[in-house]
Amino acid sequence: MKSEHAPTIQRSDYTPLAWTIDDIELHFVLDPAATLVTSRLRCARRASRAEPLRLLGEELELVSVSIDGVPAGAGQLTRGEGWIEIALDAARAELCIVTRINPQANTALSGLYVSRGGFFTQCEAEGFRRITYFPDRPDAMTRFAVTLEADVAECPVLLSNGNLVAQGALEGGRHFAKWVDPFPKPSYLFALVAAKLVAQERRVTTASGREVLLQVWVEEGNLDRTPHAMDSLVHAMRWDEEVFGLELDLDRFMIVAVSDFNMGAMENKGLNIFNAKYVLAKPDTATDLDYENIESVVAHEYFHNWTGNRVTCRDWFQLTLKEGLTVFRDQQFSADMLAQAAGDAGAASARAVKRIDDVRVLRAAQFPEDAGPMAHPIRPERYQEINNFYTATVYEKGAEVIRMLHTLLGAEGFRNGMDLYFSYHDGQAVTCDDFVDCMAEANSYDLDQFMLWYSQAGTPRVKAVGAWDAASGSYTLTLSQHTPPTPGQADKAPLVIPVAVGLIGPDGNDLPLSLDGENHGGATTRVLVLAEAEQTFRFVGLVAEPVPSVLRGFSAPVILELDESDERLAFRMAHDADAFNRWDAAQRYAERVILALAADAAAGRALALPAAFAQAFGALLNDAGLDPAFRAQAAALPSETYLLERMEPADPASLRAALMFMTRELGTGLAQDWRAIGAAMEVPGEYRYHPGDAGRRALANLALKYLAAAGVTEGLARAEAQFACFGNMTEGFGALAALVQSASPVREAALARFHELYHDDALVLDKWFALQAAAWRWDAAAAPVLERVRALMDDPAFSLANPNKVYALLGSFFRANPAEFHAPDGSGHAFWADQVIALDGRNPQVAARMARALENWRRFTPALRQSIRAQIARVAATPGLSPDVAEIVGKALA
Ligand code: PHE
Ligand code: ZN
Repeated sequence: MKSEHAPTIQRSDYTPLAWTIDDIELHFVLDPAATLVTSRLRCARRASRAEPLRLLGEELELVSVSIDGVPAGAGQLTRGEGWIEIALDAARAELCIVTRINPQANTALSGLYVSRGGFFTQCEAEGFRRITYFPDRPDAMTRFAVTLEADVAECPVLLSNGNLVAQGALEGGRHFAKWVDPFPKPSYLFALVAAKLVAQERRVTTASGREVLLQVWVEEGNLDRTPHAMDSLVHAMRWDEEVFGLELDLDRFMIVAVSDFNMGAMENKGLNIFNAKYVLAKPDTATDLDYENIESVVAHEYFHNWTGNRVTCRDWFQLTLKEGLTVFRDQQFSADMLAQAAGDAGAASARAVKRIDDVRVLRAAQFPEDAGPMAHPIRPERYQEINNFYTATVYEKGAEVIRMLHTLLGAEGFRNGMDLYFSYHDGQAVTCDDFVDCMAEANSYDLDQFMLWYSQAGTPRVKAVGAWDAASGSYTLTLSQHTPPTPGQADKAPLVIPVAVGLIGPDGNDLPLSLDGENHGGATTRVLVLAEAEQTFRFVGLVAEPVPSVLRGFSAPVILELDESDERLAFRMAHDADAFNRWDAAQRYAERVILALAADAAAGRALALPAAFAQAFGALLNDAGLDPAFRAQAAALPSETYLLERMEPADPASLRAALMFMTRELGTGLAQDWRAIGAAMEVPGEYRYHPGDAGRRALANLALKYLAAAGVTEGLARAEAQFACFGNMTEGFGALAALVQSASPVREAALARFHELYHDDALVLDKWFALQAAAWRWDAAAAPVLERVRALMDDPAFSLANPNKVYALLGSFFRANPAEFHAPDGSGHAFWADQVIALDGRNPQVAARMARALENWRRFTPALRQSIRAQIARVAATPGLSPDVAEIVGKALA
């Protein structure tokens, strides 16, 4: 590993800046190959600090530096690798720095780059230093004034943060615009856009009565795909006003869609830049899931305006301060939107469906991360490349930690803590401790031990053991906890874990709960706070032995160890009053059956589906009293990545055999039911995005999928018919997916037809790539999927330069198709290494993301381990590797 390019940065090394920058005036003369950037900085020395002014810069051509109007002298300027230093005697200075950059050569998509002829920026985390020399760290907060100059014909629209204060024509077919952001901000929130775009606009009034302008900027042909993003933005604004009393603080708020973007979206102050995938939607190109994702990403970025922008991070170790909190906020927002659409009767189930979605992501992505070489606390202690720490741990586990605070303090207590946080820290760059301190102070609640969630990595195991004492009518629940060691952290201390518990009576109804020694009680779900290695809770006043329902609503990000018989799981599948736990009982039962089938497959034994499971599964599926979205969740098997994580050793081929067998058995065995569901779930009328309709379509598409996979003739015919004539993308893609995930003879024809229909539509084609890369081989005679992936790389629509294409084709193959990726001949692993190396030369962030697909290699069977290890070593030995990929493969091999 090239350690000279990837030194380890330690959280404990933080030192405040010696110099602050009061304001910055930026002037851009935009040109694809040679953009000139002039930066005027007003700098002030912090009292008691004697150091020179250090500015960071990468890939910059330094044209000139002047100090207080005079060109910098030889002794005043020192240049190093990635920085310059300016020696200054006075306490204040005005610098003018001119740099030249080449946006069209910027394939890393960090800093200023060109996408489809327009200019866009991405500055989080350390992209601003690729634009000009600056103290590019989040605690350097500055007022920005930005002037953009560009060609009118190529770039008629010129945008930056804040308010437009001047614009006009220049000579030679050029024009300019000047923007001033009234709020000081760190450089990672700077943005500019200069491109040929059009906007959908809406004027709305904020809670305090100010009129603000909202804009969604897209390429001209996409204007009909903006209404949903705009609606989502308005809903997010209202929600933040109502729930947190937080209002938009700018006169104008813009969202811009761009086709080439490494991540989902970016919360630049007043100028959010989005991966087009999370903006554009119309019924015939976007699925219900796309609509849902757009709503939550738009809200997420909007919510950052307060949690992230008004109060930002002191340093990048605090990333979860803004991300965990903002993910929690967007999850709550989406749950409220779903509940509202469902009405009073359906609200609880709608919320549970959202919770299930979020927990699925956590289990499939974060649990494996927490059990591998990249395991880190939500607030990491060290990193080599910050871009590698935009992780499921920082985001999703971070959100779980915030959720636990919400559970412990209650909604009102949490709100009081938020209010205090803004009253103390508005306009500041702060730490996770500052946030938790506000929660503690506002509630007079001791959160010292709770802080361990910020410093301990690894997924805690919570074991629950119940004992019934008939004589005294009491039930004793013993909870214990244990967190396995992670790299660099051998010993773990007990955490504060809220465990929501209910007790179910023999008739299936929840029992009122009274703890020993209490004179009140009566609630049917109680939050027990486990703060020691082991604790006992005694419930009294019971007449018969209850069935415990533990960790209701997934009240903590832990793995629950609870010994339950198949009968108990089936009982809870039928009766648990907590919808999340009812789903979870089904998942646990399915996991048990699948892992047993996989063991049989590995040992060459014949496979047989336990009748009791099929019966419990069928009963839940057919419960017409349940919300269709919930039934779809309950009937979807646990994800393959999560199951692989639960397998010892991970054996993708056997797991795939088990999953195929199970899917076929359930498809055939319940064929009647699936057919009836398909018919009953039809949604009449024109498409509208509505959670209720989406739930029905999801269940109908799932039915189609089981039937097609099982080869049920009528199901295949139905999928063909639905594909031949569909009214919206959810139905069209659902039908195509069912055909592709089957041995249907029209599979290839359907794929060809879909390509013919959408070859001009990049976002729809991404679905087409992803579907093929993730396909299972239902037809045993079909060629390995790797061959298809290779062929698709030659499709004219595919490009390694476009992150969405890479994620769709390569990402889906590496992450969503373990059995094919881990082909026993090692061909997938060699292909992985080739692609990681090829990508690293152009876009290290994207390459590192792909590189992570094999980090948990030590869990696999010995033959696979050997094959993977060799390929990781090949990547690690590649000369000129980026620090991004070097860190990933270095840790994987360590
Ligand atoms: N801060 C962005 C978000 O979570 C994610 C992001 C990180 C985007 C880094 C680009 C680069 O909303
Ligand atoms: Zn975010």
